[in-house]
Amino acid sequence: MSLRSKLVVSFLAVIIICGLVATVVGMQLICTGIINQAQDKVRIDLNSARHIYKNEIHEVKATLRLTAQRFFIKNAILEGDIETLKMELERIRKRESLDVLTLTDETGRVIVRAQNPSVNDESQEHDELVSRALSSREVIGATVIAAREELLKEDPDLAEQAYMQFITTPKAKPSPETEQTSGMMIKAAAPVFGHDGSLAGVLYGGNLLNRNYNIVDEIKETVYQGFKYKGKDIGTATIFQGDLRISTNVKKEDGGRAIGTRVSEEVYEQVLVKGQPWIDRAYVVNHWYIAAYEPIKDIKDEIIGILYVGILEEKFTDMRQKAVAIFLGITLAGMAVAMIVSNFLANGVLQPIKRLVFASQQLAEGNLEYEVELKSNDEIGELGETFNFMVSSLKERDERLKEYTQQQLMKSERLATLGQLSAGVAHEINNPLGAVLMYTHLSLEEMKADDPHRMNLEKVVGEATRCKDIVKGLLDFARQTEPKVEQLFVNEILERTLSLVENQALFQNVRITKALSGYLPKIMIDGNQIQQVFTNIILNAAEAIEGEGELSVTTRTATDGESIEIEITDTGCGISKENLEKIFDPFFSTKEVGRGTGLGLAVSFGIVARHKGTIDVKSEQGKGTTFIIRLPIRYEV
Ligand SMILES: Nc1ncnc2c1ncn2[C@@H]1O[C@H](COP(=O)(O)OP(=O)(O)O)[C@@H](O)[C@H]1O
Ligand SMILES: [Mg+2]
Repeated sequence: MSLRSKLVVSFLAVIIICGLVATVVGMQLICTGIINQAQDKVRIDLNSARHIYKNEIHEVKATLRLTAQRFFIKNAILEGDIETLKMELERIRKRESLDVLTLTDETGRVIVRAQNPSVNDESQEHDELVSRALSSREVIGATVIAAREELLKEDPDLAEQAYMQFITTPKAKPSPETEQTSGMMIKAAAPVFGHDGSLAGVLYGGNLLNRNYNIVDEIKETVYQGFKYKGKDIGTATIFQGDLRISTNVKKEDGGRAIGTRVSEEVYEQVLVKGQPWIDRAYVVNHWYIAAYEPIKDIKDEIIGILYVGILEEKFTDMRQKAVAIFLGITLAGMAVAMIVSNFLANGVLQPIKRLVFASQQLAEGNLEYEVELKSNDEIGELGETFNFMVSSLKERDERLKEYTQQQLMKSERLATLGQLSAGVAHEINNPLGAVLMYTHLSLEEMKADDPHRMNLEKVVGEATRCKDIVKGLLDFARQTEPKVEQLFVNEILERTLSLVENQALFQNVRITKALSGYLPKIMIDGNQIQQVFTNIILNAAEAIEGEGELSVTTRTATDGESIEIEITDTGCGISKENLEKIFDPFFSTKEVGRGTGLGLAVSFGIVARHKGTIDVKSEQGKGTTFIIRLPIRYEV
């Protein structure tokens, strides 16, 4: 997985989690908000419906009150003019569109039935409204249940209109009955008074609610103004007699009104049994509604039916779906933006890293000139700076190394040239010098002891010998003969060298300390040549001490285990920095003419080099000098 993918994925994960949480919470809020709103609306609608229903009772009451006060009724009762009563009551019944209009005398006995005049003379005193009107002398109105025989008396057609067979639905409360013969009526009763104010009778009347759609349609028109949603009535109203739908504008599949079905058991329990309103979603006939039910009570405050209003839920579910879609859309858009931004940010981080990778590759290929340009003020910028610093350090070291190698090369070339030159010169001078010495010696032998020229000749011998020494040194330096190697102990050679030199006057005040390792192996060396190296270095040390001082000689195996180290340290005058570079050059000497030839170290350097070893010097002016000679242990020729 690339760094970019990792960055983008982690970014997206955060966004998706946040988005999901926001969506779930948001949708929850929206859904409950919309449902609450719908339920509030349906509760208000139910209030309006109740108002319209109560108003219907008031209207019937008002009609009966006014009719009961009519002059002709009082007159006709007093005069027993049945024919006029029949005619007038029927006219009023039609005009006021009442289903029932009946007059009784002051004992409750029926005098005239407007719709069914042939049936009369029986007592209606048992009727709750009639008896109350008689006793209280006031107009009484209410919803009532009218038994079939009562309906038959008033009008056989009404009994027919009220009759309903139950249509079974799965949710309805099971019932042993299969039909409904009684009817539910809005009914009022008004006392009729004679001219002297005495009670003369009761006029009662009203409307059957079964299959009478005036009220429910008025509710629909008033509350919902006939508003339709996707071709369906958005609001519906229903009147139940008990749990039976007797008047509704909920439509069946075939378009007819859905009467004859019964309310669900849940609603039955809540509204009819407990007498409490019920507001929730309900599946009515074939659609979901947000529904509100409340009990309808009779004059004795007993529950005899239900008033229902419902709003099509579809409108609200569509609203909810739309809100959710918008919400999801916003979340998805947010994710898309986040993805673009994260990609952009990832680029911001990755670009400099790529540049660093490229720079490292350049460096690996040996391009020390390449510099990364990272101008950011953060850790990456710092990394870039460090990288550039590293490159410049590498470059510097590389240059120093080149310079050093160059110097070494030049030095060995110079030494080689010098060697050849010296060899030639020495060779040429050696023979004449030999002749000079030989003839001078001959002359000295023949000369008398007190000859005045003798001193001069002796000086010639001295100087010529010195020349011979120089020439010998030159030849040593130039000879560059391969060492004749054999297995030898370095310690033994050192001991021998020291025993040869330590009795010289030069070492009179020099304390010699030795720390020679007892575990050194024999190594392949040319004993004479190595002894010469030790001699040269030890003599130089003694000369540097000039008086009292210390000379210490140490041998050991090097830490890498592949060579022997011989360390010779003195407490002499030390070597200045500038001279330190030159001491191995032939003829470099700081000593007065006649004492130093400047060849000792040059010769030693050559010998050690031919043994595949090295010589190192450390020195501090005024304190002393240390020479370290390293000779390889596995030196094969
Ligand atoms: N142990 C030492 N202490 C101080 N200077 C030294 C030492 N060894 C060598 N030198 C310096 O190195 C120079 C070269 O030494 P070398 O080649 O032996 O020539 P020479 O001894 O003939 O001068 C000496 O002249 C001296 O300046
Ligand atoms: Mg010397």
